Amino acid sequence: MKNKVCIITGAGGGIGSAIAESLFEKGFRLVLMGRNEEKLKKTANGRDCLILPGDICDDNYIKETVEKTIEVYGGIDIVINNAGVAQSQGFEEISMEEYDMIMNTNVRAPFLICQSVLPYLQNSDCGTIINIASVTAHKGYALQSVYAASKHALLGFTKALSKEYYQKGVRAHVISPGGVFTDMVKVSRPDLSSDGMILAEDIAETVNYLLKMRNTACVADEIELHRETKEPFM
Ligand SMILES: NC(=O)c1ccc[n+]([C@@H]2O[C@H](COP(=O)([O-])OP(=O)(O)OC[C@H]3O[C@@H](n4cnc5c(N)ncnc54)[C@H](OP(=O)(O)O)[C@@H]3O)[C@@H](O)[C@H]2O)c1
Repeated sequence: MKNKVCIITGAGGGIGSAIAESLFEKGFRLVLMGRNEEKLKKTANGRDCLILPGDICDDNYIKETVEKTIEVYGGIDIVINNAGVAQSQGFEEISMEEYDMIMNTNVRAPFLICQSVLPYLQNSDCGTIINIASVTAHKGYALQSVYAASKHALLGFTKALSKEYYQKGVRAHVISPGGVFTDMVKVSRPDLSSDGMILAEDIAETVNYLLKMRNTACVADEIELHRETKEPFM
């Protein structure tokens, strides 16, 4: 996988920066996406990569990022749709503006990113999409109605896309974690203590596992991860 070109969204955040750190170490050529340029620069830490700040809800930003990646690196092998926003509001409190913002960030943007990169992934010998969903892709927690809807949708379109492109050599996976110790969970689940939480580095390890398996005959479509303190298979 050395020198493979990988786009990561939300690369300045908790999970995104851990994934980037791990892929930098393995010699991937990275494209870091996110709104906050300073956070992306912190992730890059002076290493050679493409830092392209912007809002994934802006279709032009996605188009320009793909174009710039092709111009600089000549192809795209892997995309990790990691950027996302959470929610902690009652069902009747959420405005339609907030609904649109969450759905646009968590579903529409990764959908458009997948559409935009698929022509290039099909030209790669290891075309891979990894979409970071959540345990809420399968469940409905109180105060997380739109978040749950968005992650169910992300899982849903990934299932369809993986079937459409599997025979064309592109694999699409979903990682569905429970509580990961990042800034997001402090907002979405302020009731959770930091004890027994999944670490961002655990998600990075899971990404590495999926990429490593890309060269084998064994495929994991979705990997669900839960906190040690939760009951298994719940
Ligand atoms: N933490 C958890 O417990 C947990 C559990 C399950 C799944 N997840 C999922 O894991 C992913 C990463 O979350 P995290 O925990 O690492 O949270 P985080 O630290 O808050 O990172 C989220 C990242 O998404 C980026 N982002 C949000 N909206 C964006 C937009 N409109 N355009 C561009 N970038 C945008 C942010 O970029 P800027 O900082 O530049 O704004 C930030 O880097 C999310 O999809 C989340 O749903 C998290």
